[in-house]
Amino acid sequence: MAQKKKTCARVLSQERLADGVFDLRLQTDLAKEARCGQFVGVYPEDKSALLPRPISICEANAQEETLRLVYRVVGKGTAEFSGLKEGDTVEVLGILGNGFPVEKARPGMRAVLMGGGIGVPPILQLAKELDCEKTIVVGYRDGQCFLKEDFEKYGETIIATEDGSVGTKGNVMDALKEGGIEPDILYACGPMPMLKAIRSYAMEKGILAYISLEERMACGVGACLGCVCKTAAVDHHSHVHNARICTDGPVFEAREVEI
Ligand code: FES
Repeated sequence: MAQKKKTCARVLSQERLADGVFDLRLQTDLAKEARCGQFVGVYPEDKSALLPRPISICEANAQEETLRLVYRVVGKGTAEFSGLKEGDTVEVLGILGNGFPVEKARPGMRAVLMGGGIGVPPILQLAKELDCEKTIVVGYRDGQCFLKEDFEKYGETIIATEDGSVGTKGNVMDALKEGGIEPDILYACGPMPMLKAIRSYAMEKGILAYISLEERMACGVGACLGCVCKTAAVDHHSHVHNARICTDGPVFEAREVEI
């Protein structure tokens, strides 16, 4: 795995996509190493906050050395990021995490990519990198379906909304069943209840599934231990059934973790 480094990124643009959801584009050579499902740590200006905020990579362009981060404002750090403007600079640590194993989806297979809420953005880079038949199923609270047009460029895109204002009323599993879609392989990122449902479905049907547990991360750099989860296998350093999502993940094969 590439060495992680802290670097000063330049803000190219920032746009509001939905209530509390922002689209930040950065110029940084970190983009050269970025893969789908990985994330970066973004540092607030406020030096009393020593730890970065983990934000997943929505798109990376290695040639242009740009990263696109789509994030939700959830506290002081992310509120500060939402005020960044073109020409500002921000400190970024990366690249972090293992990413989605795209090589598991071979040509001829049907991959189903599922994203829910603020787990939707990393699915976009995954959709770009996967070279097989793909169906994208993304779920939102309401009709503010951010990134919908971006997804439509990369494959059949099915929407679920909790309030039923767009697409299937319900969650991504409801949309998958309603569409009668039969996946050969599943990739997912989103809130825990969604990932639990996908994990049970995949295990019941014997489908290979990779889930990103990034929602559980706090510091993103192995410092807070807030992200420990139970694993089926024993860790060879600590000899316990534990993994840290930020350093061992955030992507796990669904059967490997107990959630
Ligand atoms: Fe802090 Fe993993 S998020 S240790």
